[in-house]
Amino acid sequence: MSLEVININKSYGEVKALKNISFKLKKGEIVGFLGPNGAGKSTLMKIITSFINQDSGKVIISSIDKDVDAILTKSKIGYLSENNPLYNEMTVLEYLNFVSQIYNLKNSKKRILKVSKEIGLVKVMEQEINSLSKGFRQRVGIAATLVHDPEILLLDEPTTGLDPNQLVEIRHLIKKIGQEKIILLSTHIMQEIPKICNRVIVINNGKLVDDKSLHSKEEKEIDFDEYFYNLTK
Ligand SMILES: Nc1ncnc2c1ncn2[C@@H]1O[C@H](COP(=O)(O)OP(=O)(O)O)[C@@H](O)[C@H]1O
Ligand SMILES: [Mg+2]
Repeated sequence: MSLEVININKSYGEVKALKNISFKLKKGEIVGFLGPNGAGKSTLMKIITSFINQDSGKVIISSIDKDVDAILTKSKIGYLSENNPLYNEMTVLEYLNFVSQIYNLKNSKKRILKVSKEIGLVKVMEQEINSLSKGFRQRVGIAATLVHDPEILLLDEPTTGLDPNQLVEIRHLIKKIGQEKIILLSTHIMQEIPKICNRVIVINNGKLVDDKSLHSKEEKEIDFDEYFYNLTK
């Protein structure tokens, strides 16, 4: 299980959104993907999931080039996009069924049950999505990324707009899921980084400006607001 991003470049017209981005992630890594608005975080996630194409460079998912077999590599990825679009008029169960159909899952009933338990959705399965709190909506979004049991999770700002309790719950959830997977998660909440992540990658203006592990107590005790500011001001 691995995710390799190799010399990725991407422009939108005149705007160079990504400049030669490279890194390699392995199982058990929960990576905080940081950068100011417009840095290129969402663009890179969309490239990894084959939603959009890079101009040059490669993405290798567990030894498979996404441009050689996009269907296979997509099946190894769960992606929660920035604003977590959901079908509001569906119940949670209907939505997760719908998502399983997209992935053509054979064991969908079993998977939905397992994921719903893991994500704490069992008691709201019959509720319409528009009746749920923001925290539960995020859980539904995360559950939908997990039904096909991907190796890699890309979570684009999964904790934005949550209240403090919802934040703690989603954080616990991400940590639990991350033990068995690779998670790349973008966030603007710096205090979250040492609590969830064991590695941090920072981009600014499309360039990678830092990539470091967060394992020791010293590494986790730095002031992440200052750290971020100094790298990206
Ligand atoms: N579809 C698009 N068309 C044109 N420019 C875009 C598009 N998407 C993103 N950009 C530009 O690319 C840069 C990176 O954007 P984005 O990846 O959304 O950054 P982030 O997620 O870090 O805020 C920004 O300058 C943004 O304006
Ligand atoms: Mg973004």
